[in-house]
Amino acid sequence: MKKDAIIDKSRIEPKPNTIVSCRKDGKDNALVVGFASNASLEPSMVMVGIVPTRYSYDMIKDTGKFVVNIPGKDFADEFNYLGTVSGRDEDKLADINTVDGDIVDAPILTDCPVNFECTVVTSVKPEDGTHELFIAKVEKVHCDEEYLEDGIIQWDRIDLL
Ligand SMILES: Cc1cc2nc3c(=O)[nH]c(=O)nc-3n(C[C@H](O)[C@H](O)[C@H](O)COP(=O)(O)O)c2cc1C
Repeated sequence: MKKDAIIDKSRIEPKPNTIVSCRKDGKDNALVVGFASNASLEPSMVMVGIVPTRYSYDMIKDTGKFVVNIPGKDFADEFNYLGTVSGRDEDKLADINTVDGDIVDAPILTDCPVNFECTVVTSVKPEDGTHELFIAKVEKVHCDEEYLEDGIIQWDRIDLL
């Protein structure tokens, strides 16, 4: 027997646990993003939804660059921190290992096993919606060697958060 659930309290689950990192004017930042999905096969594109009040929003809107980092369970503390504290108040990446992107001018979180370097192609903000949806071309994908087979990411081997 089914009953109505409250629409405003209902989301499609499970949502992915991603961390989006960005850079503007030499300042690095990252936030947790659950509104994330694949958006195109060829070329490969992804979508991330960012609320305009986030500190990261202007960075991504103005530069059109970001990295989607996929954390493992061993990154839970950092994930919670990046998803609750704002870059307005703290240098959130001060104690987190990063390297520069190869293609995109944004930091890669090296302790996350998979990272997608992305360039924004377009974005849409539904008039009454909460998030601006950024659709971005995947420029390069990094993966820890142990999770790769013939260049293909072996997702089932990663202890995803
Ligand atoms: C599980 C989880 C999922 C989240 N998903 C999103 C999201 O999809 N979009 C978004 O803008 N914020 C999302 N947030 C909130 C931001 O990560 C959070 O407000 C963060 O502190 C913003 O950082 P910033 O101000 O440095 O950009 C999520 C937080 C958590 C804990």
